[in-house]
Amino acid sequence: MVLVVGGTGQLGGRIVRELLSKGVKVRALCRRGSGYGALARMGAEIAIGDLKDASSLEAACAGADTVVTTANAARRGGEDTVDAVDLQGTRALIDAAAKAGTGHFVFTSVYGASVDSPIPFVKVKAENEEYLKASGMAWTVLAPNAFMESWPGKVVGLPAMANRDVVLVGEGTRRHAYIAEHDAAQFAVAAIMNPVARNRRLEVGGPKAVTWAEVVQTYEAALGRSIPVRYVAPGEHVDGILDVLLSLLAGYDRFDSDFDSSALAAEFGVTQTPLAAWVRAWIAANQPRIS
Ligand SMILES: NC(=O)c1ccc[n+]([C@@H]2O[C@H](COP(=O)([O-])OP(=O)(O)OC[C@H]3O[C@@H](n4cnc5c(N)ncnc54)[C@H](OP(=O)(O)O)[C@@H]3O)[C@@H](O)[C@H]2O)c1
Repeated sequence: MVLVVGGTGQLGGRIVRELLSKGVKVRALCRRGSGYGALARMGAEIAIGDLKDASSLEAACAGADTVVTTANAARRGGEDTVDAVDLQGTRALIDAAAKAGTGHFVFTSVYGASVDSPIPFVKVKAENEEYLKASGMAWTVLAPNAFMESWPGKVVGLPAMANRDVVLVGEGTRRHAYIAEHDAAQFAVAAIMNPVARNRRLEVGGPKAVTWAEVVQTYEAALGRSIPVRYVAPGEHVDGILDVLLSLLAGYDRFDSDFDSSALAAEFGVTQTPLAAWVRAWIAANQPRIS
């Protein structure tokens, strides 16, 4: 049985669905009041718990051969801080899994995680990787690059579909190998099911690194119209866009994530989704419904 923590989120939900479709028994640790009805209807067993409540984690881990976590506080807030959830909560889960005799723990980190990172979220990911490696369990660190859904989709797709300007920070010339959430989930499931993933860190991205200009061109080609783009300086406030998003975009303008994970994709049987195909599917899924 696989315990999935984060199953009500984007990546975790895909992992639950994919595991169930392969006939794997899945338990999902979900918070009371969280939207877990769809997971239950798919056939996942629901264990109510919270990463901030260590006592709930031991029961959830009982009998799990593998624990996989995608949980994080980035989109939550309130009491769900990086310290309470990403750091302390993940460590409590690792401890609970080790105590319950779990054989394999899969931790979702992020490409570029480093203990020297000035970004707490990214620093904590690296610290958790070290904590997991010292746990005594077999481990896998999945370190995906930025998701197409979270970045090209939100930064270019949503404003383009709403006929608003696309706002880019800095020069937008850095290259990033964005990965489709679907592909990240395929890697996660392969990591869970394929023993060769044990005790390895898997840095996974999309098939080709692109600049923001290329992302815009890809949407323009798929929509058959031009998309107005406005470039702003790092630190500049833009009405209607959260400053935190603008500062993350400024961060993406300071480095390239142009790396080749095609060998890993071949090893784990994952077909990497090209941006153009992903954009066409994204547009189809986000087209306003004609009633
Ligand atoms: N988005 C990207 O571009 C990107 C890139 C690289 C790596 N990643 C990593 O990929 C992973 C998945 O990202 P995602 O976008 O799929 O995340 P997401 O949609 O924000 O999902 C977060 C999940 O964490 C759960 N969670 C939050 N606080 C919790 C708590 N206190 N106790 C138990 N569960 C809690 C949420 O449950 P509720 O529904 O109850 O809140 C939800 O299921 C993350 O680890 C992220 O850092 C993301």
